[in-house]
Amino acid sequence: MSDHVIALRNVSRYYVMGEFIVKALDGVSVSIARGEFTSIMGPSGSGKSTMMNLIGCLDTPTDGQILIDGEDTSGMSEAELAFIRNQKVGFVFQQFNLLGKLTALENVVTPLLYAGYKPRERRRMAIDALERVGLADRMHHRPNELSGGQKQRVAIARALVNNPSILLADEPTGALDSRTGNQIMELFDEINSEGRTVILVTHDRELGLKAKRQIHLRDGKIEV
Ligand SMILES: Nc1ncnc2c1ncn2[C@@H]1O[C@H](COP(=O)(O)OP(=O)(O)O)[C@@H](O)[C@H]1O
Ligand SMILES: [Mg+2]
Repeated sequence: MSDHVIALRNVSRYYVMGEFIVKALDGVSVSIARGEFTSIMGPSGSGKSTMMNLIGCLDTPTDGQILIDGEDTSGMSEAELAFIRNQKVGFVFQQFNLLGKLTALENVVTPLLYAGYKPRERRRMAIDALERVGLADRMHHRPNELSGGQKQRVAIARALVNNPSILLADEPTGALDSRTGNQIMELFDEINSEGRTVILVTHDRELGLKAKRQIHLRDGKIEV
């Protein structure tokens, strides 16, 4: 295994918009060590989500190489990329992306449904994950019966239930008040202390500076 859990080598992601090319990411090279806690900061439109989606194999680069656990993802099939997404990465988004008709517990169980666990095991793992984020007493509530911070905790439990080594969060506090945002940030800090690599996108300077390392993007490039 490589000591760099993530490496981007001269990675670009261009979008063709009619006669224009949007260089969402433009020749970015960066390595992230196992167990690091990094924030990706920068103004709106600087390429933060693009970089996050590439790291999480939700998207593929126009050019360059992305290595996850030392493995080059460039030549990988959709099935191989799906394996990385499911086994190595947990995602958290600004708008929580919970399924409104399901309870907290059912939402957290979702990533385990096709992973070959028995129903009893799935339930145990999901309850453990909800306990981990301090929400075991809300497991039978639906999203509309939870506060924003609680919804984000459910989303974090869902991201952790597969025990991924990498946690990616794109503006996870963007829909929360600052006090709740700080609590979520503390939770990420704890999750990182357990040895997980955490990457957090934020345009909130104060929160971004709480991570141990910052990557600043502007116009699709890393600012030094
Ligand atoms: N699917 C897309 N099609 C066209 N342009 C896009 C697409 N996604 C992002 N972009 C453009 O790429 C740039 C970077 O976007 P993004 O990564 O979402 O920035 P950020 O997350 O920092 O706000 C922006 O100019 C945005 O308009
Ligand atoms: Mg974004």
